Amino acid sequence: MRMPVRMVEPGELEVVVGIHRRAFGSDVEANLARALMHDPAYLPELSLAGERAGRLLGHVVFTRMWLVPDERGPEVPLALLAPLAVVPEAQRTGVGTAVVQAAIRRARELGEIAMLVLGHPEYYPRFGFEPALPRGIRAPYPIEPAEAWMVLPLSPAAEELPSGVVRVADPIAGPDMWRE
Ligand SMILES: CC(C)(COP(=O)(O)OP(=O)(O)OC[C@H]1O[C@@H](n2cnc3c(N)ncnc32)[C@H](O)[C@@H]1OP(=O)(O)O)[C@@H](O)C(=O)NCCC(=O)NCCS
Repeated sequence: MRMPVRMVEPGELEVVVGIHRRAFGSDVEANLARALMHDPAYLPELSLAGERAGRLLGHVVFTRMWLVPDERGPEVPLALLAPLAVVPEAQRTGVGTAVVQAAIRRARELGEIAMLVLGHPEYYPRFGFEPALPRGIRAPYPIEPAEAWMVLPLSPAAEELPSGVVRVADPIAGPDMWRE
């Protein structure tokens, strides 16, 4: 059965923060998710939640980030996927897959150029993500292992991206946020 995936209502913000708290077993990602959802860079149309039997089980946050070219040129708007969470009792039942696939579809409809993620290199390639460094797109800090920093091209413009480093929203700009 295909899982309903939808945008989050303003009144559900703390519910989805709770999904991140339980999935990661810590307040760090929960506080990050909350701060990002209040940040001007928040992308509500991509930040979708998966629902089963009237209960929200998984959620992803997207924020706007900018690729700052090494050579002179305009900054390029890209989308950052972070964090993604599924409540423990629903993990490995397809919730994360449904949420990410729906966000990818929506991002294409909206004309996004590419999305990036710092995540498990075993998980994201199934959606088409590939290592970002070989394309010249660097994270704000060096990533170990480098393959955990991944990009998913969404439009032909992704093939023309300049080399550069990304500039991200304040709540996710600290070095602690860039350790796998
Ligand atoms: C990682 C996570 C988002 C995946 O969502 P999910 O709904 O559990 O995953 P799906 O059911 O869509 O996909 C399941 C497949 O993903 C893979 N997978 C799931 N969790 C994984 C993990 N932590 N590392 C690597 N692969 C993982 C497995 O291959 C799994 O297939 P299997 O059950 O046959 O082994 C979820 O498990 C989660 O919230 N984990 C804790 C928080 C976290 O680590 N989030 C960061 C994501 S970068």
